[in-house]
Amino acid sequence: MMLSNSILRTIQDRRSIYKFKSKEIEHEKIDAIIEAARWAPSWINTQPWHIILIKNRETKNQLSKVVGTLVGIKAAHYTRVAIEEAPIVFIITVDTKKDPYHCIEDGVAATQNMALASHSLGLASYWIGVFDISGETGSIEEQIKKLLNIPGEHRVISILPVGIADMKSVKKDRKETSEFIYHEKFGKK
Ligand SMILES: Cc1cc2nc3c(=O)[nH]c(=O)nc-3n(C[C@H](O)[C@H](O)[C@H](O)COP(=O)(O)O)c2cc1C
Repeated sequence: MMLSNSILRTIQDRRSIYKFKSKEIEHEKIDAIIEAARWAPSWINTQPWHIILIKNRETKNQLSKVVGTLVGIKAAHYTRVAIEEAPIVFIITVDTKKDPYHCIEDGVAATQNMALASHSLGLASYWIGVFDISGETGSIEEQIKKLLNIPGEHRVISILPVGIADMKSVKKDRKETSEFIYHEKFGKK
């Protein structure tokens, strides 16, 4: 039988939710979500993350407009709804000077902690990836940096709208573990 506990259940039950009720989130919950980011692991404990909290309607609308140009019409629609409807939108950035080697993973660990903490508190979130691996000028990441005054040496890892779910979660399939687990050497089943 598969072992289970509250952390494992939180990991398994968390789903991406893009429709939110307009109800505000209690300060204590926001603080707890930020605290979860604070305790994420990072390269030699550099903690290169910075988090912007967005509640202002106008800023959300501007952000939604930029993100709306993301690849994939359906996904772009969901991301826009999530940013516009969520009472709070977190932007997670990392300082590349603080951790030039692993800042991306550090920011991802912080984001995942926040998504799991949100779910554990009865809230929902919708991870939107804006980190642009190509580093092209005019990218969505670059437009977001401009919009939110994010300094040049920072990278934007994710946008995380959080709020009370206003839709049923859709259980997504996952690969069977046998499809990605090898023993001793890659490819050895
Ligand atoms: C790095 C990352 C980037 C993502 N970016 C987007 C995105 O741009 N648009 C979107 O609709 N969903 C995005 N998602 C959410 C995924 O689509 C979602 O996590 C995946 O379909 C699995 O569903 P679940 O989160 O409900 O388990 C992203 C998730 C991750 C981890």
